[in-house]
Amino acid sequence: MTSVVLGVSAGIAVYKSCELLRLFTESGHDVRVVPTRDALRFVGEPTWAALSGNPVTTEVWESVHEVPHVRIGQSADLVVVAPATADVLARAAHGMANDLLTNTLLTARCPVVFAPAMHTEMWEHPATRANVATLRERGAIVVEPAVGRLTGADTGPGRLPDPAEIFEVCRRVLAGPREDLAGRHVVVSAGGTREAIDPVRFIGNRSSGLQGYALARTAVARGAEVTLVAANVTLPDPAGAKVVRVESARQLREAVLAAAEHADAVVMAAAVADFRPVRQSDTKIKKSSAEPDPIHLVKNPDILAELGEVRRARREAYATRDAGGAAAAGGRETGDGPGAATQAPGDGPHPRVIVGFAAETDDVLANGRAKLERKGCDLLVVNQVGENLAFGTPDNAAVVLTAEGGSVEISRGPKEDLADVVWDLVVQRLA
Ligand SMILES: Cc1cc2nc3c(=O)[nH]c(=O)nc-3n(C[C@H](O)[C@H](O)[C@H](O)COP(=O)(O)O)c2cc1C
Repeated sequence: MTSVVLGVSAGIAVYKSCELLRLFTESGHDVRVVPTRDALRFVGEPTWAALSGNPVTTEVWESVHEVPHVRIGQSADLVVVAPATADVLARAAHGMANDLLTNTLLTARCPVVFAPAMHTEMWEHPATRANVATLRERGAIVVEPAVGRLTGADTGPGRLPDPAEIFEVCRRVLAGPREDLAGRHVVVSAGGTREAIDPVRFIGNRSSGLQGYALARTAVARGAEVTLVAANVTLPDPAGAKVVRVESARQLREAVLAAAEHADAVVMAAAVADFRPVRQSDTKIKKSSAEPDPIHLVKNPDILAELGEVRRARREAYATRDAGGAAAAGGRETGDGPGAATQAPGDGPHPRVIVGFAAETDDVLANGRAKLERKGCDLLVVNQVGENLAFGTPDNAAVVLTAEGGSVEISRGPKEDLADVVWDLVVQRLA
């Protein structure tokens, strides 16, 4: 049984950690809750003791014969502090040991995860930024707070990520290090675009964003810097990912192309509308006795094909530039092919790996293979939709087609498992 220390400090979000505690205990972990003194002002000792089944104390002066200020940290497989206040981050960064939690943090030799939660001003203060940087330098995992409603009417970065998200980060940390995307920037699109008919109505699709969010979450866990372009998704933000919200296909195109500029890989899991209404009414179209006007459609930009096209042009520009550079046997000039000016010399054409998704209802593999060739991507994940698969379900099954003509079958399982196979293939190509 793994031994988890759940440190809780005095943020208003501390009540959410009761849910995090349950997620740990229900999946078979032995959890010792170590609150700060002030945390008990928000949620009392009996709640933590009853939910964890273990004694709870904030001080080093209780059960001294068991030397808890050393033993609890030494025997832990994971320490997670959620919420982590600005104060606890500061005390941990400075090696203070003025309560049981900070003693535990100093004696722990296992992975340590901090899930900060505080007002945006506190999170963005240079003191907090420096403390977070120090903790990260020393190997602690400090997950990015979510953006959203804070105490009172304030909103912004600083919200405690959803307990399920924190649990997922911890589960992956406990499963062992797999930092094979460390130092990589990946872009994931998720959800389904909406094309406005009028201010009230839109043409949309059934995509929930679950697969794209699983891709983002697993990439964060594997060490990547993740930009998640989310179209109309109502799921909690994956901890640690930068989330850019969009609505329409054209907004998604802009966000993806901008983020892809310096990305190592782009995974287009979003369901992007192929068409949009030619006209969008500025006012709600009224129901009248006459028959409604037909809605005429126009094609949306093909983002996947455009990513492939930009990269192809850059590769040509690089090849020309390298040939020119070799002939001149001297200083490199920025290439003047499409997009080449935005790339740092020696950086290579980005994105290096492009992954598309295809949802098919019939002739799945043949349609998928044709799409992969048409779009110029490296990998295409082909889903068969229907039979309770793909849209809105936690499970998925797919075949990943490769540009070289190969295929990898992924049997039905959690969307995280499918995401991990996709990242395995991306990592191979980046190497
Ligand atoms: C209502 C209320 C809510 C608070 N929420 C937070 C918070 O979310 N994050 C934070 O860093 N501090 C917050 N504070 C301030 C901390 O509780 C305060 O800095 C405390 O001394 C931290 O103690 P600890 O880090 O030992 O738990 C809040 C204070 C109050 C009164």
